[in-house]
Amino acid sequence: MAKAEKAIKTIGVLTSGGDAPGMNAAIRAVVRKALKNGLKVMGIDKGYQGLLNNEIRPMNAKDVSDSIQMGGTILKTARSEEFTTREGQENGAKILKEHGVDALVVIGGDGSYRGALALSHLGIGVIGIPGTIDLDIACTDYTIGFDTAINTAMEAIDKVRDTSSSHERCSIIEVMGRKAGYIALWCGISSGAEEILLPEKYDFDEQKIINHIVGIRKLGKTHFLIVNAEGVGHSVSMARRIEAATGMETRATILGYMQRGGSPTCKDRFYASVMGAMAADLLTKGVINRVICFKNGDFTDIDIDEALAMKKEIPEYYVEIAKDLVR
Ligand code: F6P
Repeated sequence: MAKAEKAIKTIGVLTSGGDAPGMNAAIRAVVRKALKNGLKVMGIDKGYQGLLNNEIRPMNAKDVSDSIQMGGTILKTARSEEFTTREGQENGAKILKEHGVDALVVIGGDGSYRGALALSHLGIGVIGIPGTIDLDIACTDYTIGFDTAINTAMEAIDKVRDTSSSHERCSIIEVMGRKAGYIALWCGISSGAEEILLPEKYDFDEQKIINHIVGIRKLGKTHFLIVNAEGVGHSVSMARRIEAATGMETRATILGYMQRGGSPTCKDRFYASVMGAMAADLLTKGVINRVICFKNGDFTDIDIDEALAMKKEIPEYYVEIAKDLVR
């Protein structure tokens, strides 16, 4: 386990990549636990891009008041091209050192951890906290925001289902997940969707979907629900083609960014609070270059290099269940 060469006195915290409900609970926990442990905390606005723009300020316990129930991130977030370059990373490390920041907590996804890893090679200790609605971080079974996002999406799908059923239509509902199908899979199973299209699995054989609709209609089913992941996409044109081939009125609904907002669920607030507190505690003990995760039913932490080397696969059994539960 990597240890800081000298005692950590000041830590920084930032959020990076797509925002996720629950990030504020994590920030709050990092700030308050670190302060309680006697550390100084600097908040960095707008992720790595904000770091490069020197948007750094000290944070006190009051700065995170009234934020635990809020969606989004009070530290703002951004995706930074500049920080993917060696020059940007060196500049970032230099700015952190100028502000006396010994170690940094990065709340975000895999891409954000790669930036953190680069900083760790430049003398800044880092801790990653998994924050993404996509659940696509291999070292952990839980990511901050996923629970809120799937509940938001599921509620929206239920509403579309009502009208789809009344009008005896086929509905394609597109949920987020450009590279990962976890939101689609969870919402698809939980909404009883007849088809779930995942970027990791989709074979672009629309005829199979059409045959499925035709077959199921013969059995008396009058409406049909397709949950489609953003990474498969093309929901509007897919709806047109399905309608033409089946004769069943078909509509597409793209849920989009509403899935990334909103007040976090209790689970997201609780898990994010524990993860944030753990990050502050590790740094207080001088432990650096770890990622906090939730694995096999418990909170733990692993080496950031190891975390980034891991690959995540959609569980085959869940995919099988999704198929087997459709009549
Ligand atoms: O945060 C994850 C995510 O919402 C993905 O599901 C999506 O593909 C991506 O972010 C979109 O991000 P943006 O449009 O904000 O760059």
